[in-house]
Amino acid sequence: MNRTPHVAIVGATGAVGVEMLQTLEKRKFPIGKLTLLASARSLGKKLTFQGKEIEVKELTRNSFSGIDIALFSAGGSISKEYGPLAAQAGCVVIDNSSAFRMDPTVPLVIPEINAADLRQHKGIIANPNCTTAVTLMALYPLHQAFGVKRIFASSYQAVSGTGAKAIEELRRQVAEIVAGEPVTKEVYPHQIAFNVLPQVDSFLPSGYTKEEMKMENEGRKIMHHPTFRASVTCVRVPVYRAHSVAVSADFEKSVSVEAAREVLSRAPGLDIVDTPEKAEYPLPLYVAEKDNCQVGRIRKDCAMDNGLCFWVCGDQLLKGAALNAVQIAEELLKL
Ligand SMILES: NC(=O)c1ccc[n+]([C@@H]2O[C@H](COP(=O)([O-])OP(=O)(O)OC[C@H]3O[C@@H](n4cnc5c(N)ncnc54)[C@H](OP(=O)(O)O)[C@@H]3O)[C@@H](O)[C@H]2O)c1
Repeated sequence: MNRTPHVAIVGATGAVGVEMLQTLEKRKFPIGKLTLLASARSLGKKLTFQGKEIEVKELTRNSFSGIDIALFSAGGSISKEYGPLAAQAGCVVIDNSSAFRMDPTVPLVIPEINAADLRQHKGIIANPNCTTAVTLMALYPLHQAFGVKRIFASSYQAVSGTGAKAIEELRRQVAEIVAGEPVTKEVYPHQIAFNVLPQVDSFLPSGYTKEEMKMENEGRKIMHHPTFRASVTCVRVPVYRAHSVAVSADFEKSVSVEAAREVLSRAPGLDIVDTPEKAEYPLPLYVAEKDNCQVGRIRKDCAMDNGLCFWVCGDQLLKGAALNAVQIAEELLKL
């Protein structure tokens, strides 16, 4: 890999794409050249990187010649169509969509957990689902210490997880309600302002949604834990940015709050915020725009013998997407 790579962002104008640009800049990623790609709708748009304006180009089948690393965040169908083309052109694809995550030939990586899997890559690397990534930042260190068997969890997912149009939908609906006007809906099937929606993604025959099953499926692959089980209810909430997850985890070994805190205090990319008597616990409002995830409300689960409950929050545009992707790119430079 070129040590000062030519990087492309596919979907540069989107909610994740814009964060990729800022994350590359903030972390001083050693970029040789940056190419910004989006749809024909964005032709002529300019985005600022390191104080300079860069023009957005239209994604085409020929976009990838000379590019070393392509960060994809333009949706699953674009990844399926252009990801393999980019890999054939010799570039390493880091894909934010779900298109390749469960492909056995594609590493699915959270660098703090399974960076070593990157060595197996064949041109495409997958970034995990955002809710799964935030949860595993706290669950994996506990798993290493106590051996997780299963979890029961509910998520509280921000609208930015659905993309730029959903951020706009929440803003618009709040303004409409304040102005006493009828509420208009485009992105979600129901009003999201002042409401919560117990549906993220489409339903499977089992009654779970696709999003809910990602925790078990992707969790097994990332943690190298084929018997891990997860029963999850994913809920969309009127929060702009950062996902929260309430987790009850059942472990092989007995777990105390003190031992769990000791393990979590050493976990990379994670801060403990847990002084309930002072009303201090992780809040999406304050985790937004932070790189580290936060864990709190750590307590013994009263309904399981070896159970622990916790509440974990993380900026899903960062650890659930852009930051994790850039961390993967940083790891690639070390291979
Ligand atoms: N949002 C999150 O928190 C999050 C977290 C993890 C993973 N992801 C994944 O990341 C991907 C992007 O999500 P997002 O939230 O950033 O969505 P978004 O805000 O809707 O942005 C979509 C991006 O894709 C581009 N695009 C759409 N159609 C295109 C086409 N035909 N050719 C080229 N570019 C096209 C858009 O360009 P235009 O502006 O030109 O339309 C825009 O830059 C999705 O696969 C999503 O599942 C998102």
